Amino acid sequence: MSDDFVLDVTRIREDARRKMEAGPVTDSYGVDSERVIDILNDVIATEMVCWLRYTRHAISATGIDRAQVAAEFTEHAAQEMQHAMRAAERVSQLGGEPDFDPATLARRAHTDYTTPSPNELKEMLEHNLLAERIVISSYQEIVRWLADRDPTTRRLLESILEEEEEHADDILDLLGT
Ligand SMILES: [Fe+2]
Ligand SMILES: [Fe+2]
Repeated sequence: MSDDFVLDVTRIREDARRKMEAGPVTDSYGVDSERVIDILNDVIATEMVCWLRYTRHAISATGIDRAQVAAEFTEHAAQEMQHAMRAAERVSQLGGEPDFDPATLARRAHTDYTTPSPNELKEMLEHNLLAERIVISSYQEIVRWLADRDPTTRRLLESILEEEEEHADDILDLLGT
C-alpha cells in the first residue's frame, strides 16, 4: 500500500504555469491562504507586544538581581522582534500585507502588555512566564491546525515555538534562584 504513490508531474507542470502571479502559493497549497495570513498577522501582534513587554521590564527592573533579569529580558526581546520579522516575511510570501498597526496590536495579540512596579522582579518574571506559556499553547494549536497543509508556515511556527519554550525555561530558572 505504501508504494502506490504516483507523482503526476504533467498536471503539476500545467498547474504551476497558471496563476504565476501567486508566486510560491500553488494549487497544492492545502489551506485558505487568507486565513493563514490573518493568523500570522496575529502572531506578529503577539510578538510585538512581547517585545514591548520584555523591553519595558528590562529597562525598568531594579533591585539586587536586576542585571541578570534585565539581561535575560533584553535577549528575549531581541528574539521576539526576530519572530515578528519572520512571521511578516511569511505573510509577504503568501501574498499578504504584514500588519504592524500599533492601533490594533494589543487587541490582536494573544498576550498582554503589563507594567509591574520596577522593584517587583518576581512579578515581572511571572508575567513573562505566563505570556510565554500562552504563546506556547497558541502556537502549538496553530501548528496542529496547519498539519501538513502548509509545511513551511508550520516549520516557521515550530522553530519559533522552540525558542518560546527556551524562554519559558530560562524564566523558570530565574524564578528558582
Ligand atoms: Fe516570540
Ligand atoms: Fe518568547
